[in-house]
Amino acid sequence: ALVYAAAFFGGYLCGSIPFGLILTRAAGLGDLRQIGSGNIGTTNVLRTGNKWLTAATLAGDVLKGTIPVLLAMYFLGPIPAIVAGIGAFLGHLAPIWLGFRGGKGVATYIGVLLGLYWPAALLFCAVWLLIAFTTRYSSLSALVAALVTPAVLAYTASPPLVIASVVLSVLLILRHQGNIARLIRGEETRIGQR
Ligand code: G3P
Repeated sequence: ALVYAAAFFGGYLCGSIPFGLILTRAAGLGDLRQIGSGNIGTTNVLRTGNKWLTAATLAGDVLKGTIPVLLAMYFLGPIPAIVAGIGAFLGHLAPIWLGFRGGKGVATYIGVLLGLYWPAALLFCAVWLLIAFTTRYSSLSALVAALVTPAVLAYTASPPLVIASVVLSVLLILRHQGNIARLIRGEETRIGQR
């Protein structure tokens, strides 16, 4: 049990680092939560217009999922690695530093998949890019990728990994309720729009 607790809280602490918020503030652009959608993720950093900050946020939020997974995999084993990944994802969604009000989990989901089973991360990114290029909605791209990924994994991955991806996808979708409402009303901003 101690192994799982260590994996979970190690992952959680990593995942709770809000890169978007930290980098935007460091660049002197103010509080990201007052900009655009108010979200702390990559899509909202893009709305500041700063491409470098956007790329750095994406890298940070991906790697904070990958690194704890790989460390747990190496030192503790495959199931603790999954637990660390769920911890990292929850850290992004509900960081202790921000009163548990965090992001929507897209980049960290990709990072966790990258550490656990990289083809799944590739699949998620491919679906995201396909929908993003055709619709220019970041949120819709994430929602479709989150639906497709566990469905495909169900045929190709181990049961614990399938269960983990279902859990992460359900949480991701629940976090996008505001986006889903905006998409339905036709009010969601497209990538490249402010
Ligand atoms: O990356 C999160 C994305 O799916 C939605 O972000 O800022 O448009 O609510 P945002």
